[in-house]
Amino acid sequence: MEATLVLVTGASSGIGEATARRYGASGARVLLLARNAERLDDVADAIRKEGGAASPYPVDLADSGAIEEVSARIASEVGTPDILINNAGAGRWLPLIETTAEEALAMIEVPYLAAFTLTRAFLPEMLARRSGAIACITSPASYVAWPNAAAYIAARAALRGFTEALRADVKGSGLTVTLVVLGVVDSPYWEHNPGSREHVPAASATLAPTLSTAEAAETIFAGIASRKQTVVKPAFLRALFLLNAVAPRLVARELRRAAKQQS
Ligand SMILES: NC(=O)c1ccc[n+]([C@@H]2O[C@H](COP(=O)([O-])OP(=O)(O)OC[C@H]3O[C@@H](n4cnc5c(N)ncnc54)[C@H](OP(=O)(O)O)[C@@H]3O)[C@@H](O)[C@H]2O)c1
Repeated sequence: MEATLVLVTGASSGIGEATARRYGASGARVLLLARNAERLDDVADAIRKEGGAASPYPVDLADSGAIEEVSARIASEVGTPDILINNAGAGRWLPLIETTAEEALAMIEVPYLAAFTLTRAFLPEMLARRSGAIACITSPASYVAWPNAAAYIAARAALRGFTEALRADVKGSGLTVTLVVLGVVDSPYWEHNPGSREHVPAASATLAPTLSTAEAAETIFAGIASRKQTVVKPAFLRALFLLNAVAPRLVARELRRAAKQQS
């Protein structure tokens, strides 16, 4: 039997790297996408050392033409992925007036537009096969708006909207679409996006422990395997989303208060 083909974006670092390694360890063949070719080679080597199979495909996912090229290459060299994981992302949590228009656009290009274009490239063949899974990785910012991260929150809301609309589009086709919502993960994200950590609600650290990248990867792996629509880790976040849906003013007031205490 052929190995499951799993494509992971953002596989050069953090959650994507750990997820790629998790799939490699499970016997899948993993396709690694990100810009940093050297890091992708290192991750591919690590997966091979652990007995898995991996192929790096360096690409700038902010460039839709490059996504079309790399997806055509992947389709001809190894085929259409069985599992597509849209994980690559960046973006600083900054107040609106400290965020340039260019930075706001970059946050829309990756993760949202990258997920759109990559999914669009592989979707026809996945639909024709009537099997497969697509997952998008996001943050609680997809559900709850807190002060001082307007561009980041807008971009994550776009990714959630895309994922839910895609699920509606493909219902009954045999494909599953999973939105994975992770709380704070101890990854290089915070070094890659300076200024962000200061604006993360401090309460999240007291209400739930920070996740390791391995825990995040296991959450993604298990959520996709059990064909979940939405996975939320840590689970207390579900209560926050529910409260926000029924009492948005209360949640907004508490978040404002927490943000003021932090500044
Ligand atoms: N860390 C957290 O607390 C947390 C919580 C919830 C959700 N998330 C989300 O999870 C995802 C992964 O985050 P992480 O914590 O693993 O951060 P990370 O360590 O900074 O990894 C981000 C990954 O995205 C890739 N990437 C960024 N821009 C790209 C581009 N233009 N083209 C191709 N690849 C690009 C990076 O690769 P290159 O630089 O090599 O291109 C890297 O592999 C992000 O979407 C993040 O927002 C993170």
